Amino acid sequence: MKIQSCVQLCQLVLLFVSSSMLLLVIPMANADSDDLPTPVAGLSYGFYEKSCHKAENTVKHIMKDFLESNVSQAAGVIRLFFHDCFVQGCDGSVLINDTQGEQPSIPNQTLRASALDVIEQIKAKLESMCPNTVSCADVLALAAREAIRQAGGPRFEIPTGRRDSLNFSNSTIVLQNLPAPFFNLSQLLSSFNSKGLNTTDLVTLSGAHTVGLAHCSSFSNRLRPTVDPRFNKKFANSLIQSCPNSSINVATGMDILTPNKFDNKYFRDLVNGMVLFDSDASLLNDSQTQAIVQDFADDNNVFRSNFTISFIKMSMIQVLTGNKGNIRKVCSVLNSNSSSTATTIDSYIPAEFDAPLSYASI
Ligand code: HEM
Repeated sequence: MKIQSCVQLCQLVLLFVSSSMLLLVIPMANADSDDLPTPVAGLSYGFYEKSCHKAENTVKHIMKDFLESNVSQAAGVIRLFFHDCFVQGCDGSVLINDTQGEQPSIPNQTLRASALDVIEQIKAKLESMCPNTVSCADVLALAAREAIRQAGGPRFEIPTGRRDSLNFSNSTIVLQNLPAPFFNLSQLLSSFNSKGLNTTDLVTLSGAHTVGLAHCSSFSNRLRPTVDPRFNKKFANSLIQSCPNSSINVATGMDILTPNKFDNKYFRDLVNGMVLFDSDASLLNDSQTQAIVQDFADDNNVFRSNFTISFIKMSMIQVLTGNKGNIRKVCSVLNSNSSSTATTIDSYIPAEFDAPLSYASI
C-alpha cells in the first residue's frame, strides 16, 4: 500500500515536473524567442546597461518618432546597416561623410539621407546623456533592429559593444564588398561566405527586401533588351510601363503585396515571379535555396525566427571591440585624432567579381 502511494506520489511529481518543463519549452518555440547567437568576444547583450542604461530606450523612442508618420523610412535604416557591415565590418564606416569615403560609391548613392540624419540625431542625444560612451556602430545596429520591429518584423535583443572605425573604405572597396543586384547565386554565396554567412543566411537576409524601394537602374537589365523569363508576364509589363528607362530617379516598391510590412510576403512574391533583382530571382535556381524560400513563403513565423538569427550574425561581422577603434563624437566625422585617409586594408574580392555587367553600365 505504502509502495503504491509512493508510486502514485512519484507519478504526480513527474507529471508536475514534465508539465512545468513543457511550459518552459513552449515559449522557446515562439518565433521571436529562439536561442540567439552567442556574441563574439567583446560584444554582449545589454552592454550599456551600466554605462548608459537608457541608451536602448532612447534609440527606440527616437526611431518611433521617426517612423510614426512614415513607416516606409524603416527600409533606409535597415539597408544602411547592411552596407556598413559588408564593408570593413559593422564599424560605422559608412556613416563618414567624405568625398573619398564610402558614401559616393554607386550602391551607396541610393542610401537615404533621412536614414543618415536619424542616426546622427540619436547619436547627438546619446552624447548629451552619456558622453563618449555609445558608438555610432551600435547606434546604427540598434536603430536597424528597431526599424525591423516597428515595421512589423521580429522583436529581438541584439548584442552591443561595437566600436567605431578609425578609417573608412573608398568607392572601389565598397564595390568589391557589396553584392550587386545582377549577381548570380554562386557570386552571392561567395560574397556572403566571405563574411561568415551561409546559404540560409543569404536567403533569409534577402527577405529584408520585403520593405523599401528600388530604382529602375537596379533591375532594368532584366527588362531590356529582353524580358527575363523568370518574371511573371503581367508584372514585367507593369515594370516596363513604370520604368521607361534605366533612370536612377524613378523607384518602385520591392514587395508588391505588403510594401511597408516586414513580413514573409517577399518570398511569396519570389515564388510568383514578382521580385526585382537577378539576385532575388536566383534564389530559386537551386534546390537547396528553393526549399528555404518555400518554407519562408509558407510560414511567417519560420521566416521571423530565422531572420532574427541571421541578422544578429550579420551584425557581428568584423566588429571592433575592446581597445580597437574608438567612440566617435559625431557619426559623420572621424574624431580629430583618427587617421583621415581611406583604408587600404586587404579586402576580400570575390573570384567572380568580373561580372559581365558593372554597376556603371546599368
Ligand atoms: C543579397 C544581396 C543583396 C543585394 C544584391 C541587394 C541589392 C539591393 C538593391 C540594388 C537595392 C535597391 C537600391 C535602389 O535601387 O535604390 C536594395 C534595396 C534594399 N535592400 Fe538590399 N541587397 C541585398 C541584400 C540585402 C540585405 C542583406 C539587406 C538587409 C538585411 C538589404 C536591405 C535592403 C533594403 C531594406 C532595401 C530598400 C532600401 C530603401 O528603400 O531605401 N538588402 N538592395
